[in-house]
Amino acid sequence: MSESKTIHLAADLSFLHTDYLWRMPGSWAGYDYYSTSEFYEDIARIAQRGVMDMLFFGDTGGTPEDYGGNHDAPVRYGAKWPRHDMAPMIPLMARAAPGVGFAITMSTTYHHPFYIARFFNALDHVTRGRIAWNAVTSAYKNEAANYGFDDMMDHDERYQRAQEFLKVACKLWDSVEKEALIADRENGIFADPSKVHRIDFRGRYFNVRGPLPALPSPQQRPVIIQAGLSGPGMDLAAAYADMQFSTRRTVASMKQHREALDAKLVSAGRKPRDVGILWSIRIQVAESEADAKEKERRYLAAIRPEAGLVEMSAQYNVDFSKARPGMRLADFVDEVHAQKGNYGSFDELLKTADPAQTVEEFGRRFLVDRILVATGTPKSIADKLEEMHEASGANGGFILGRGYSAMDNIREFVELVVPELQRRGLSKKTYAGPTLRENLY
Ligand SMILES: Cc1cc2nc3c(=O)[nH]c(=O)nc-3n(C[C@H](O)[C@H](O)[C@H](O)COP(=O)(O)O)c2cc1C
Repeated sequence: MSESKTIHLAADLSFLHTDYLWRMPGSWAGYDYYSTSEFYEDIARIAQRGVMDMLFFGDTGGTPEDYGGNHDAPVRYGAKWPRHDMAPMIPLMARAAPGVGFAITMSTTYHHPFYIARFFNALDHVTRGRIAWNAVTSAYKNEAANYGFDDMMDHDERYQRAQEFLKVACKLWDSVEKEALIADRENGIFADPSKVHRIDFRGRYFNVRGPLPALPSPQQRPVIIQAGLSGPGMDLAAAYADMQFSTRRTVASMKQHREALDAKLVSAGRKPRDVGILWSIRIQVAESEADAKEKERRYLAAIRPEAGLVEMSAQYNVDFSKARPGMRLADFVDEVHAQKGNYGSFDELLKTADPAQTVEEFGRRFLVDRILVATGTPKSIADKLEEMHEASGANGGFILGRGYSAMDNIREFVELVVPELQRRGLSKKTYAGPTLRENLY
């Protein structure tokens, strides 16, 4: 997908109302919280000014009850709660910013491929080819409970289902050929039946006859994103993804991740350049190093000490309020793995965090240190992005991850960091084409 060495730029808008960012000066100022579109349309306009490729909404459909066994803390502090269905925002944002692409998350564990294929076909039409699907297998037990499961499906089985899900969805997107539409008014022929095909799929999880009752959309299928860190997650990415999201925390583990994905791509008969990686990063930029440090200090001071543990509990389906003094992350490995959840990212923490740190100490930093961080002047941030991009194969780019506020942080990124990247020829100055896929060249 990403043939050039351009740094692609995206932003994750999932947590702008949480993580204590709503307490920061300038955050949400002048907008209603969450439910109206003006805020998101303005972000889309800012992203367009920075020639950013994509804005992303993550999703999970559950209210966490892991910390302390109830939803008090997540609701009180806004940890993974609330989460509206952001799909209706997409057409409004797409109209406000005609170059930017949009990614939304849909679960392969709780939805049906026929519905998803039809849904993304419609969004691709409406956005004129600027939609992407973050295909997730959903690792949270309260989400499972909302979809009727007392027990969450096993991790590896979720990925087997995802493999079949993607296969069916792709067959459906290909079931109507590009030239099917004739629209011959004179002879009254709308479309050519010989270019519309049943898929007659019968599998372990799904039986789908097809074809998709829809005209092919500008991209034919959405840009497919996958974010798994475990072996089966990487296999799914190697088979179907155009892009991957990743939360590696050091250059060494970014390199390892890239190498592992490249090896899987080659075994799947694809090329390493077929799948770009967007690395999650938190950026705090200011005109001087001192101002950037001060902003970071204010942000850290806004976060309550137990917030990281609340968030960690929701992330790993484990009650970290029970951590006794002196317990380390390693003491929770078995419990985290037994929950069938996000163990890929927990293993990344184990590999990269100081093993001597207690859970309590680690929790304090979890909200702010779980992804890459760059704090400083536009120049020092551009240096750091350039260095990490080169070291990890210059194949993808960065997604502004959790821990930035809107409008201020995203506007500062576009106004201060992007021009420096553009000046160095690292990020683009104009959109390459009308579709997201063309922009991710
Ligand atoms: C940037 C990023 C965004 C993610 N967004 C979602 C999401 O919206 N919903 C979700 O259920 N999981 C999301 N995930 C979790 C992954 O899909 C995956 O479950 C996780 O990285 C653990 O990997 P594994 O499933 O291979 O163990 C996201 C992961 C990353 C890195």
